[in-house]
Amino acid sequence: MNINVKLEKWRIAQKRHRLSDKHVQMARECGLNPDKLGKIDNHKQETWKSPLPQFIEEIYFKRFKKIEPAIVKSIKEQVADEKTKKEKQKKEKEQKRKEKARYAEKLNPVIEDMKTVFSSVPAGIDHTLKVLDNARQIIRVEKTNWQSAVIVELAAVLHDIGAVETQRKHGSMDGCFQEQEGLAIALEIMKKHDYEQSIIDRVCFIIAHHHTPEKIDGMDFQILWEADLIENMQVMEVIKDTEELKQFISDNFKTDGGKDLVFRRYAKK
Ligand SMILES: [Fe+2]
Repeated sequence: MNINVKLEKWRIAQKRHRLSDKHVQMARECGLNPDKLGKIDNHKQETWKSPLPQFIEEIYFKRFKKIEPAIVKSIKEQVADEKTKKEKQKKEKEQKRKEKARYAEKLNPVIEDMKTVFSSVPAGIDHTLKVLDNARQIIRVEKTNWQSAVIVELAAVLHDIGAVETQRKHGSMDGCFQEQEGLAIALEIMKKHDYEQSIIDRVCFIIAHHHTPEKIDGMDFQILWEADLIENMQVMEVIKDTEELKQFISDNFKTDGGKDLVFRRYAKK
């Protein structure tokens, strides 16, 4: 029931039963039904019953082990409080929507920069976009808060950004070289697009350890790890049967979204 409808019922009950603000508040806190107070408020006919205010005081004390609330507010004040609370929630929701939209917008040029870095290796673009898509699916299932989602998506787009440079400089795709080389490039891209230092630091940490699962220290990193692993499993030949797949999932996946995604992708039909 809408809180304002409830308060209106209490306003009517207060008038009908001539209750003080204090007794109304105590009755509400005890969970009494304002429509059914008449059944209790008949001590004149049923003389073994306590008068309503006294009854409220008794059940209040039994429930909360105190005589009365520390702060008493009238129904009018509670309606005003409710209005202020609703307005505040509406403003916060709108602010959150705008922030989310701003970060979604910011990610697009980062994706374009990633495509430029991988222009000679289209498979790198394809892999990165699939990892981003996996990450988004896991984020949805896990109901990850939007600030962490910004970090995961950014890390997904930039996690392999050092691959081309690693191959050029070291003639190898070794994970530890990728972690090193990716950092500088990712840092430059994030600074260019004006990301906050706290976001940059976290994404850099994930990129610098994304081949080192022992370093996973949070849900954002875990989601990126799982999103990447789902793609890398294509060439890992770890799955020979359903039991082996289940064991691999249990050893490597922690999120429900990741477990579900990997099982749907690799379980033998
Ligand atoms: Fe990757």
